[in-house]
Amino acid sequence: MSRAHDFARERLSGIPRIFAVDATAGNGHDTAFLAELAGTEGKVAAFDVQPEAIEATRTRLAKNGLGRNVELFLCGHEKMAETLGVEWHGNVNAVFFNLGYLPKGDHAITTLPATTLRALDAAWEMLAAGGFISLTVYTQHPGGFEESARVAVWLEKMRSRAEILTCGVHNPIEPWWAGIVK
Ligand SMILES: C[S@@+](CC[C@H](N)C(=O)[O-])C[C@H]1O[C@@H](n2cnc3c(N)ncnc32)[C@H](O)[C@@H]1O
Repeated sequence: MSRAHDFARERLSGIPRIFAVDATAGNGHDTAFLAELAGTEGKVAAFDVQPEAIEATRTRLAKNGLGRNVELFLCGHEKMAETLGVEWHGNVNAVFFNLGYLPKGDHAITTLPATTLRALDAAWEMLAAGGFISLTVYTQHPGGFEESARVAVWLEKMRSRAEILTCGVHNPIEPWWAGIVK
């Protein structure tokens, strides 16, 4: 979603050493975008549960001359806190979530409410002050609407602690997006 990229470009500009996490690497579009923004000084960690997604991300990075600042984890994003080293904790500037299934992959393997919510909480804890979560939610695939509803409740809970920007709301048809700033 270009909304997410525009938001990230705006918020990350001027940060000398960017720490960014792509919680759902998929085909690597967001990982490549974050790797480019992070440059030689910054670091990107990307998670996915599917080997195909990790491979697709690796290939995209290589094709674009990116990847030297990226670590790929074949691992659920709900384990990000225990997977990432101490230098990440409290220092993360951006965490991208792009929920749903791997486009051109197995549509039956999707993000799931319980692990998504655990990962959102973990991501929030790892953020630096001023850091943000970019959350893109798709609702049309099986289970997507239910996941969206759970995420919308989580978002409401965050309103007292976070600055929240949204583009769209929980609904059965259109994808929606939220930027959650610490
Ligand atoms: C919509 S795709 C992501 C698209 C990606 N952002 C891109 O730029 O191409 C969602 C991805 O989430 C992955 N996924 C599902 N459950 C996950 C989990 N627990 N942890 C990490 N990734 C997961 C899927 O395998 C799928 O590749």
